Amino acid sequence: MRGVGHEGYGMSLPGKHASRQQFGEEPLEMRESDHYHAEYVQSFVEKWDELIDWEARRESEGQFFVELLRGMGKHKVLDVATGTGFHSVQLLRAGFEVTSADGNAEMLTKAFENARQHGHVLRTIHADWRWLNRDVHSKYDAIICLGNSFTHLFDERDRRRALAEFYAALRHDGVLILDQRNYDAILDHGFDSQHKYYYCGEQVSAAPEHIDDGLARFRYTFPDGSAFHLNMFPLRRAYVERLMKEVGFQSVRTYGDFQETYKLPEPDFLVHVATKSWDSAEEGTS
Ligand SMILES: C[S@@+](CC[C@H](N)C(=O)[O-])C[C@H]1O[C@@H](n2cnc3c(N)ncnc32)[C@H](O)[C@@H]1O
Repeated sequence: MRGVGHEGYGMSLPGKHASRQQFGEEPLEMRESDHYHAEYVQSFVEKWDELIDWEARRESEGQFFVELLRGMGKHKVLDVATGTGFHSVQLLRAGFEVTSADGNAEMLTKAFENARQHGHVLRTIHADWRWLNRDVHSKYDAIICLGNSFTHLFDERDRRRALAEFYAALRHDGVLILDQRNYDAILDHGFDSQHKYYYCGEQVSAAPEHIDDGLARFRYTFPDGSAFHLNMFPLRRAYVERLMKEVGFQSVRTYGDFQETYKLPEPDFLVHVATKSWDSAEEGTS
């Protein structure tokens, strides 16, 4: 989908409105960075948003990012994985200046509607990360890439390209905040000890259905019995930290389940905070 890209204040963006996910005849062979368009179909996105209570999610994670950004004195934020708009809206509510980007037009349309219901007008940019700066023409204090989004890139070249584009869209002292599932735990401890992740009580469960070094296929099950899948690349923590440094970030600090100190198998989620300058973050992880 190399043609992706345009900017606006909540115009109605063209969407595919597909209702069924397509993984082809060999779902375990579907390992392509462009496939996210076929995974976030309208029925999956709407069901997800119906069930995941934004207030509950805000209680558990929203303040972490607000406090982190405030603590670093950052104000102008680009959300590159807007999805249905949760993080963009939390930051707007907290007084940040936010621009909301995503490669998927349907997601931006949904995010715009969600934001309007919360009393905000989203400034949107339809852009794929791999050529972000073709469509993003400003510099930001911070970029956020949250909700285990970076895992959608299957090629190392795509990951390097996206990180370099994020780097270029940041001011000289900018910061990238990128989260991911703790795939080290799943890869190293296998299916026997796998966590089953529940969202919103027990209404939505997410469980790894297949895992190898090149694919983590998760199954999402809803109370009406319907199920959807996401095929993702299982990023190891050390690998992501190394890529970030190789594209030029000076420091990378990684939190586990929002804590600075943790043992790697324990957290479900990791949050990397990568800075362009030496002085605004400490080197090292637990
Ligand atoms: C799991 S959703 C996360 C949304 C949101 N941050 C959240 O936590 O609710 C991942 C988002 O990343 C977007 N995405 C995946 N690959 C992308 C790419 N290469 N360029 C731009 N957006 C991409 C998808 O369209 C989707 O909206």
